[in-house]
Amino acid sequence: MTGKQQPRLEAAGITKMFGGIRALNDISLEVLPKQIVGIIGPNGAGKTTTFNVITGAYRPSTGEVRLDGKAVTAEPSHLIARAGISRTFQNIRLFGDMTVWEHLLVAQPHSDFTLRRLLPTRWADPQAFRRAEEILEFLKLADVKDRIARSLPYGIQRRVEIARAISARPKLLLLDEPVAGMNHDEADDIRRLILTLRDSGLSILLIDHDMAFVMNLCDYLYVLDFGVMIAQGRPDQIRSNPVVLDAYLGHAT
Ligand SMILES: Nc1ncnc2c1ncn2[C@@H]1O[C@H](COP(=O)(O)OP(=O)(O)O)[C@@H](O)[C@H]1O
Ligand SMILES: [Mg+2]
Repeated sequence: MTGKQQPRLEAAGITKMFGGIRALNDISLEVLPKQIVGIIGPNGAGKTTTFNVITGAYRPSTGEVRLDGKAVTAEPSHLIARAGISRTFQNIRLFGDMTVWEHLLVAQPHSDFTLRRLLPTRWADPQAFRRAEEILEFLKLADVKDRIARSLPYGIQRRVEIARAISARPKLLLLDEPVAGMNHDEADDIRRLILTLRDSGLSILLIDHDMAFVMNLCDYLYVLDFGVMIAQGRPDQIRSNPVVLDAYLGHAT
């Protein structure tokens, strides 16, 4: 092999305007296969907007998003999901009154819709069943499999969202503040889970503003501030970057 490794994800020259507001200003980033990459930055910096552009929820004003070298820019979200990008949400979004187990069945691939009417076919599919059981074990959700997901404690709901996201068998997982509101032990569980997911072959792009958490976990970091990518590098390079410290101290998030 010569040359550079083909990135799993590339976002190139992304600008996103909301009316007159430039939420993202010509930002570029990439995630290599099996890499854990973090996006950090103060509140309102444009982190979630970046995820919304990557997943097709928003059409960028300019720029391109590529998965394994193929442009997916502004394709419908369900096609981007099928191409291999799954996400979790900063504000947890679980399905109505469905149980944990039902979430894991409906989120598996080859479904054209994720509604309860899909379930009868899923109940009869031993492969979907086995996969859901594996994920239940993996995410330590077996004890709550028959509970309505939205009735569970917050930290467990976050795990259900991750479980649903990986049920779709993504190549790239986007996690928007996966440890927000968690205590130290819960956050450390998620940190180890993310490492295991990477070891299983996934690429991960995650957002957080807990510097210690991302520094301990990520191979590479991007720093956004007011829609501008103000720094990028390995955690040890970012930690000592005065521009980054200034952005954080300046905003006091
Ligand atoms: N749908 C939208 N319409 C208008 N403005 C938006 C919309 N989504 C995000 N913004 C604005 O874009 C900026 C970045 O927001 P966001 O990406 O949510 O920041 P972060 O996730 O870094 O906290 C903010 O000023 C926010 O108000
Ligand atoms: Mg956000």
